[in-house]
Amino acid sequence: MEYLIGVDLGTSGTKTVLFDVEGNVIASKTVEYPMYQEKNGWAEQEPLDWWNAAVETLRAVITESGVDSADIKGLGISGQMHGLVMLDKDGSVLRRSIIWADQRTAKECEEITERVGAERLIEITANPALTGFTASKILWVRNNQPEIYEKCAHILLPKDYVRYMLTGDFATEVSDASGMQLLDVPNRCWSDEVLEKLDIDKALLPKVYESPDITGVISEKAAELTGLKASTIVVGGAGDNAAAAVGTGVVVDGTAFTTIGTSGVVFAHTDKLSIEPQGRIHALCCAVPGAWHIMGVVQSAGLSLKWFRDNFCGAETEAASGMGVDPYYIMDKQAEKAPIGCNRLLYMPYLMGERTPHLDADCRAAFVGLNAIHTKYDMLRAVMEGVTYALRDSVEILREMGGDVDCMLACGGGGTSKLWRQMLADTFGCSVRTVASKEGPALGVAILAGVGAGIYPSVQEGCRRVIRLNEPQEPIRENIPKYDAYYQMYRKLYPALKNFYKELATL
Ligand code: XUL
Repeated sequence: MEYLIGVDLGTSGTKTVLFDVEGNVIASKTVEYPMYQEKNGWAEQEPLDWWNAAVETLRAVITESGVDSADIKGLGISGQMHGLVMLDKDGSVLRRSIIWADQRTAKECEEITERVGAERLIEITANPALTGFTASKILWVRNNQPEIYEKCAHILLPKDYVRYMLTGDFATEVSDASGMQLLDVPNRCWSDEVLEKLDIDKALLPKVYESPDITGVISEKAAELTGLKASTIVVGGAGDNAAAAVGTGVVVDGTAFTTIGTSGVVFAHTDKLSIEPQGRIHALCCAVPGAWHIMGVVQSAGLSLKWFRDNFCGAETEAASGMGVDPYYIMDKQAEKAPIGCNRLLYMPYLMGERTPHLDADCRAAFVGLNAIHTKYDMLRAVMEGVTYALRDSVEILREMGGDVDCMLACGGGGTSKLWRQMLADTFGCSVRTVASKEGPALGVAILAGVGAGIYPSVQEGCRRVIRLNEPQEPIRENIPKYDAYYQMYRKLYPALKNFYKELATL
């Protein structure tokens, strides 16, 4: 038998899955780690936590499965995008990683726009300067911690740090590199022009590959730690969203998926690069060589529900542990009891500012319309509905760009909720399907590893062999106008509060 491994380095934890070449899960293990929020809008993680989690999960799946490591034909890594990892000349971590959710870099975004020029920046990097993307985080360290910047010899993305620890190679691939704002996205290589204008030395950056390319092999040292066989191939892999696209079979024109993980994403594949002129939605290289995707990002999707769980659902969490089920399962049942619209209550999910469509680091979350009749369960459902409306903002932009969405694949933790999927179907007005495998990004990078190992002739062929779709969930006709009425109200909230948030941020 031949096997493939996918490592998915997420924000809440790292999940490693061992698959057979038909995509069946042989063993899976997740290890969680913290996110540090020292100040309002800041978000950091410890790269060594990622590495330790990778080692522990790899060792666990190999040991538990009893598979001979010589039969593991390749490994792919998927990762939370945009995080900044800085290493010194000896490869030691210089500071905690400033991750994608961090919003501290508004000033640096202005600096980037000024240095490169707003139009030129979008032409080259396919996106306006964004607080979430890596370039502004690099500039922040240079502006605020020059003593660290001086020592920096290597800049890596989160998953590429784990690759470095596994193989010793400084490498990345186009999908994740697109989120650094230093890549020439149309030409799929580092942009000398942007690097020069930002005064960033190209030698700091890793080599860029296509996602299924082999970037190196497992070192002797990593083999000893993980139980992998030395010289097992490691492929480029992908940023988590591009990886989820492969893991859900979104690899040809006309296909799209929504994921509700910590962040929420609406992702559409495109064989032809298409850039939204205002940059309200990202355009990035995808994991299929020579193709791109457009993607809207909601900063706090699953994070909103997790925040609600952690702060208001102690009793549900306790009951769930007694019943041996996930707290979200109980919360789902309770949200079902509230009506659509939650008795006229709306939630804006801007806990960590917002990307699509507002590109605003200062806006914050809000419940609007609270009334003495409301219960915790109305609030819980309002959180789910608010995230769904925020995702619909991205679907609307996709439709404006001519990308009609008639079937949306759903994945991520939120995609496992039947209630949430129905909300997506009713709010987007299209059918929603899941894939039989729940492993999204981990499966996606395992397929990429299979392409690198020569098991599948192409990414599309790998998907054809491995991905199975479940039956679609259709929109419920009478629900569509109900959700639509609330969505129209939701759309009025941000413009009404925008200036208020700007002022609030100065206090
Ligand atoms: C995408 C983004 C998030 C992270 C977190 O642009 O920032 O989806 O990749 O997983």
